[in-house]
Amino acid sequence: MATCWRCTLSKDGAQKPEALQEADSPLNVMVRPVRGSDGYALKAIEKRSFPSDSWHPEDFLSRDCLVAELESGFIAGYLVSQEICPPLPGTPPEREILNLAVDIPYRRKGIAARLLEAELARGGIHFLEVRESNNAAQMLYRKFGFREIARRPEYYRAPVEAAMVMRSYPGL
Ligand SMILES: CC(C)(COP(=O)(O)OP(=O)(O)OC[C@H]1O[C@@H](n2cnc3c(N)ncnc32)[C@H](O)[C@@H]1OP(=O)(O)O)[C@@H](O)C(=O)NCCC(=O)NCCS
Repeated sequence: MATCWRCTLSKDGAQKPEALQEADSPLNVMVRPVRGSDGYALKAIEKRSFPSDSWHPEDFLSRDCLVAELESGFIAGYLVSQEICPPLPGTPPEREILNLAVDIPYRRKGIAARLLEAELARGGIHFLEVRESNNAAQMLYRKFGFREIARRPEYYRAPVEAAMVMRSYPGL
């Protein structure tokens, strides 16, 4: 039987991937708001996903953060957003997606799609930035109706790279 990866908790509470049997592969995902106890798991996923520029646990806990929790209780991914403009009469609220990652063993299983669906269900117009070279994320956002509206040259560091600015078009 093919092996896949799953995460276990280390002594400091961080999740670590380890091999296990495919039959145990847990893909019943619950999307829920972050809890204080998720901090170390999120930091570990963050470090594996963005090794050169990682957030700290408090960065997740101080914003609107949704996590994808597997049946086993492990955290497989997260999406962080914030409101940038509240709803005004005749104007929808505007939100910004600040961070999104799915841990490496769980990618291409629809988990980011579940997180993004839950975020978009908050309503309003969503904005985000994504690295020019990040095709996987761009494909995901396009699938959910995001379109490019601008480029910001040399926006990212380590490595320096342009950002593509995208926005959602709800209702289209
Ligand atoms: C981008 C990322 C969040 C996608 O997570 P995921 O759970 O693997 O995505 P999903 O399985 O939900 O994929 C949904 C859709 O996104 C697109 N997609 C996701 N990964 C893709 C890839 N590697 N190549 C092409 N398209 C991809 C596809 O359209 C996919 O639909 P499909 O599987 O029916 O073809 C994940 O690759 C990741 O964590 N990357 C590192 C961190 C990162 O780049 N975050 C985004 C910062 S802006």
